[in-house]
Amino acid sequence: MTDLSTLKSECAGAIEAATDLAALEVARVAALGKKGKVTGLLKTLGGLPEGERREFGARINTLKDELEELIAARRAAIEAKDLDARLAFERADVTLSPRPEQTGALHPITRTIAEICNLFAQMGFKVAEGPHIEDDALNFTALNMPPDHPARQMQDTFYLEGMGSGVEGMGSETGQSDPEPPAQNPKPYVLRTHTSPVQVRAMLKEKPPLRVLAPGRVFRCDSDQTHAPMFHQVEGLVVDEATHMGHLKGTLADFMRAYFNAPNLKLRFRPSYFPFTEPSAEVDIGCDRSDGGLKICEGEDWLEVLGCGMVHPKVLQNCGVDPARYQGYAFGMGVERLAMLKYGIPDLRTFFEADLRWLRHYGFSVLDQ
Ligand code: PHE
Repeated sequence: MTDLSTLKSECAGAIEAATDLAALEVARVAALGKKGKVTGLLKTLGGLPEGERREFGARINTLKDELEELIAARRAAIEAKDLDARLAFERADVTLSPRPEQTGALHPITRTIAEICNLFAQMGFKVAEGPHIEDDALNFTALNMPPDHPARQMQDTFYLEGMGSGVEGMGSETGQSDPEPPAQNPKPYVLRTHTSPVQVRAMLKEKPPLRVLAPGRVFRCDSDQTHAPMFHQVEGLVVDEATHMGHLKGTLADFMRAYFNAPNLKLRFRPSYFPFTEPSAEVDIGCDRSDGGLKICEGEDWLEVLGCGMVHPKVLQNCGVDPARYQGYAFGMGVERLAMLKYGIPDLRTFFEADLRWLRHYGFSVLDQ
């Protein structure tokens, strides 16, 4: 009778010696395959005497089970080793550049808004947003511009026809629709002409103290080399119990100098008028136009960059804030202008032409800091 323990160590040796799955398969077939050694033994059972057949059969089956276990263990070991080798070989180098065909870029407006938000975030401002289709009452009335207020005419408003639904009545096809609502039939929705209604929304929503920054699109019925019917503003609002003009000046000076990376940038606060602030000012930064171009930070000229002021007590009151207890300041700046100045983009209209060459030239890499 074949010595089962010799056969076992023979087969086990072949299994253990296999270093890859192909060799393991050869060892498996040699032992358990149709013509394998163990399978061959099973075939001899029929020739054995009755008494031995049963016992020998059981021992062969045990051997078969043991070998199958050994094979499974060996297979697992080989697969683990293969995986380790693959992981070591296929390791991704995350420091490599992105594929050259990935040439998407950030639009300068996106980039500039992110820069502005980052700087004000460092001063504790929280970003807020409002809708483009705005209630006439929030775009004007709450901001101290009742329906007959002459300041409404300063902003070339797109009025939306129809109550409530708004969207289907966006003026005429050309966008050159009647800039004023008929007095007897005031239309309640407009495309917001500035980001200032977000001030109103912020005050209606939360109690002071408030430090809010609201970037976004605004719309005016106006288009030439320096005006686009859609452009971007960033609005700032601070409301607290001891807020004064000095805070406004300091905040804007810190921001402008950081944004232009120019610690010596000169700022001038020039008295102005906005219905929703009192006193109001426009801010100019120092520049030089002497050689026909425009250089920030040098020279004796001035360039207007934003409007600001102390929030008018009537506006606080309209928004449920007690003007006897709280004061606030607000400012609004044009994003396109700040982007043009910092990145030397000469024409406002090119921003929204979606010209790929322009985007490649002025766009920013997504990975830029
Ligand atoms: N909303 C004003 C504009 O669009 C700018 C502004 C904002 C002025 C806040 C003062 C305070 O011209």
